[in-house]
Amino acid sequence: MNQRVNRIVAPVLAIAALAASASAVAQQAPKPEQLIKWRQSAYQVIAWNTGRVKANVDGTFHKDEVVKAANTIAAIANSGLGSLFAPGTETGKGWKETTVKPELFTDPKAGEVAGRFNKEANELARVAALGDVATIKTQLGKLQGTCKACHDDYRKKD
Ligand code: HEC
Repeated sequence: MNQRVNRIVAPVLAIAALAASASAVAQQAPKPEQLIKWRQSAYQVIAWNTGRVKANVDGTFHKDEVVKAANTIAAIANSGLGSLFAPGTETGKGWKETTVKPELFTDPKAGEVAGRFNKEANELARVAALGDVATIKTQLGKLQGTCKACHDDYRKKD
């Protein structure tokens, strides 16, 4: 490459490198709107599946349905939902305006509540595999207690 060409090419390469690193940064830090959408979607899928378990223990029981639903809840609980509550997502819009309360980001007890949810979700998956309706029903109640505990303190009413 002669010097004249180099003078033209070098800045182009520099800009390309800058653009590449900017997109790498963008990948590491999704926009607040995206994070809020993901967590709203995650909770909707959780609600779908707790509803499925409830329908099975209250109505006709299909163990395979309950296992699928319980495993889905546990997988989402274990996925690291906390990372969807990054700084900058205290307010804002995902699919709709977030209903999170700012306390979730500051109250040290919030982590404990989330931890109880994980524990009860994993326990539900464990007892679902055993297939005893009464045990599953009791465990679903415990899990739903953790939904309510978190919503009471950290979620605004719709
Ligand atoms: C650790 C706290 C926590 C736990 C545990 C929890 N939630 Fe939530 N949930 C939230 C927060 C915070 C929001 C608001 C999300 C937002 O709008 O940004 C929410 C939102 C929701 C929504 C509305 C989603 C939407 O479309 O906006 C549903 C449905 C829901 N939760 C169901 C459940 C169910 C069912 C459980 C238990 C099986 C549960 N949640 C457990 C904190 C929690």
